[in-house]
This record gives sequence, structure tokens and C-alpha cells, in this order.
Amino acid sequence: MKSVVVQQPERLVIEERPQPQPQAGEVRIRVQHAGICGSDVHIYRGHNPFARYPRTIGHEFFGHIDAVGAGVDAARIGERVVGDPVVSCGCCYPCRVGRPNVCRELQVIGVHRDGGFSEYVTLPAQNAHRVPAEISDDNATMVEPFTIAANICCQLQPASLDVALVYGAGPMGLTTVQALRGVYGVKEIIVADRIDERLAMAHACGADRTVNNEREDLAAILTQAGIQPTLIVDAACHPSILPEAIALASPAARIGIMGFSAEPCTISQQGITSKELTIFSSRLNSNRFPLVIEWMTQKKISPQTLITHQFPYTDVLAAMEVFEKDQKQCCKVLLKF
Ligand code: NAI
Ligand code: MN
Repeated sequence: MKSVVVQQPERLVIEERPQPQPQAGEVRIRVQHAGICGSDVHIYRGHNPFARYPRTIGHEFFGHIDAVGAGVDAARIGERVVGDPVVSCGCCYPCRVGRPNVCRELQVIGVHRDGGFSEYVTLPAQNAHRVPAEISDDNATMVEPFTIAANICCQLQPASLDVALVYGAGPMGLTTVQALRGVYGVKEIIVADRIDERLAMAHACGADRTVNNEREDLAAILTQAGIQPTLIVDAACHPSILPEAIALASPAARIGIMGFSAEPCTISQQGITSKELTIFSSRLNSNRFPLVIEWMTQKKISPQTLITHQFPYTDVLAAMEVFEKDQKQCCKVLLKF
């Protein structure tokens, strides 16, 4: 089979590899589509501290089950599925409290073990989620990125009174905006980014107001409009954002962060406690695939709006290049296997 392999940082090739056999409790997926994510680029560029090389990358993949291991119902062969990349032990404290995404033995498909940029991938049977016929192949490939938004939203519990501020209008910010608008029906959504084209996408995804915070003073604009956001999501993940969010937030607001920067930032207890703010973090997803599949089935979100490019997997280098370099036009890139 053909697989997209990062042999070592900066060396990405299409390799012929032996077809994997599903182990007990696993299924094998014949991958049809896979989405490129920032973390694939980080592994390619050698910027992901968890990655081990060589690695078949890709954690956003859709296809059908073509083989099952011992103990898995053979009736699942032929099922259209998306793969949850979070492989967890099921026994440790986080797993037992329903947070397998931070399992002590966490194995992320496409990071710690071989991923979905491949003609075939194996994974635990419970990680392969059936996709109903109402969801197209392309949209199904978008389930995983929306699970990131679902996970942070499940922490933040957005509601109709909320005035939301989302930093970043990349794939993560835009999936979050779609969820805030289509699923949770918050009162108002403001999006800040540096790139006008991405802010236009944010409008298309349901933002009421956008601010180019490289050119404009976000704090001044909010103050002038009398807005104190009650819910803030940092989907840009720069260390300067959390202190700013704490300053801009309404009393009793919730702030959600999802960045992995190791760079410190300065915040004070007073800034947080005087407004009794709640700060959540969110990593990957904890069993949010069924929820997002339901959102898509009920057409509460529009994944197709975010798919800007498609390439055959044989053009993976060109696809990665577009994804990395053309942030104005490019949001989500799908590879076809
Ligand atoms: P992206 O790089 O495509 O988007 C980030 C956007 O933020 C860009 O449009 C950029 O112009 C904007 N931006 C940068 N600095 C800004 C600032 N100071 N104010 C406002 N906007 C600013 O990345 P993507 O794929 O949307 O992911 C966003 C972040 O989320 C990344 O840092 C990534 O590591 C993180 N992430 C976290 C996950 C988690 O589970 N916690 C999962 C996936 C991504
Ligand atoms: Mn992803």
C-alpha cells in the first residue's frame, strides 16, 4: 500500500509499505479522504515534541472498513466510518472520568502511531465511527476538526446570553464560530484575526462582527461598542492572548485556551479573581465524534464552507505547500486516496 511518511523532519515521501493487519479488537479502514491539519505540518517541519520518526501522518480520515480483527463483528465490513485519533488505555484516572483525550498512555493516530495519510490504517474498533448516508464523504472528513470545537464548547457551555469573542479565524476558529452560531445560538460573535480574507470566512461562518487586530485596536473597538465578551476562545494560541482576554472579559466570563506554546505569559490573580473568571483548556476531543456526527446530520454546521482545496495524495507536497503558505485563500485541504 502507499503511505505518506515523514521519514525525518523536512523529509516527506510517498512510501510503499506492507498492508497492516487489524489486531484483536481493531478494524482496518480503506482510506478515501484525509484532511491536512496544522499538526501534520508541525510533524513534517520537526516542531511536534510528541512525534517519533518515521511516521505516517494524518489524523483526519474517512473511508470504509475493509477488514476486522478477532472479536470485532464482521458485519462492520463495508461500513462508512471516520476515525477518532484518540487512542486511550481506558483505565487511568482521566479515562475513568471520561477524559480519554488526556489519557496517561495517550496514543494519537498520526502522531504517536501511524496515521490516515495512507491507503489503509488500522485502529481500535470503537474509534471507527459510522457515518450516516446523509453526510457526504467530504463532510465526513471534517468531523475530526469539528470535534476540537465541540470539545472546547462542551467545556465552555455556550448559551443564548453569551457574547463570544474568538481569536483566530483559521480552521479551529472557524469550526468554533460555526458551532457557536449553529449549535449553541449565542447572542453575538466577534472574531479577531490578522488576515482580512480569513475574517471574511468568519462572516460566512456566522460571525456578526470582525476585527483585524493587527490594524485595529480590539480593546478600543469593544469598549466603544460597550461590549464585554462573556465567552472567549483563543483559537490563535499566541501567548499574548490570554492576558488580553482576561482584561477584556466580562465579570463571570469563561475563557477557553487550546494552544501548546511553551512560552510563558504574565497574568495576575487579581485579573482573574476580581471578575471570577473561569479558564478552561481543551486538548483534542473526549468522545465527541457522535456529537459532531449528529450536528452534521442535523445540518447545524456547514463543513463544506471550510473545504477550499482538494488534491490526489500523490500531490501531497503541493497540498502541504498550499496549506502552509496560502493562509489567505486556504482553509481546509483534503487529500484523496
Ligand atoms: P491557523 O494557524 O490556521 O490559524 C490561526 C489564526 O490565528 C491565523 O489565521 C492567524 O492569522 C491568527 N492569529 C495569529 N495571531 C493572532 C492574534 N494575536 N490575534 C488574532 N488572530 C491571530 O491554525 P488552526 O489550525 O486554526 O489552529 C489554531 C491553533 O489551535 C494552533 O495554535 C493549534 O496548535 C491549536 N490547536 C489546538 C488543538 C487542541 O486540541 N488544543 C487542536 C488543533 C489545533
Ligand atoms: Mn486536526
